[in-house]
Amino acid sequence: MERTYIMIKPDGVQRGLVGNIVSRFETKGYKLSAMKTKMASKELLDQHYKDLVEKPFFPKLREYMMSGPVVCMVWEGKEAVTTGRKMLGATNPLASEPGTIRGDFCIEVGRNICHGSDSVENAEREIGLWFEEGEVLDWESHSKDWIYE
Ligand code: GTP
Ligand code: MG
Repeated sequence: MERTYIMIKPDGVQRGLVGNIVSRFETKGYKLSAMKTKMASKELLDQHYKDLVEKPFFPKLREYMMSGPVVCMVWEGKEAVTTGRKMLGATNPLASEPGTIRGDFCIEVGRNICHGSDSVENAEREIGLWFEEGEVLDWESHSKDWIYE
């Protein structure tokens, strides 16, 4: 099954939104394969956002991402990458639909609460960056036959 890397950014943690965000993925039917809190390092963020390091906003993005703990998660299930992005909403929260995480909880692109992988290939890369071998678990969900036909 497909896996995606979802991260709650420092503003999401500070604003007490961890439970709400976890709950949305859980109740959708996705399976939690890994979860932990972490302080992101400069080096890790440079690798994670490797395509954005030259952008003018990158220094502020890195500072924001290092301003407090993040919650790192791996969610697994059918089309988890695409659906995960839909659940997060558009990058700019003012363009995010109500009902999405960003659409419901935030206003500015520089405080947009959460991250979601944008492709299966990037999901694998990001999971490898943020988690150690053995931290991502393969387990069988008892509800799987009630979620998938
Ligand atoms: P992620 O799921 O966080 O990767 O967002 P995304 O894939 O929707 O957008 P992208 O990868 O292009 O940008 C990564 C993050 O950089 C965004 O989520 C924002 O937090 C931040 N970002 C992107 N564009 C801007 C910008 O123009 N200004 C500022 N301040 N931050 C930006
Ligand atoms: Mg992105």
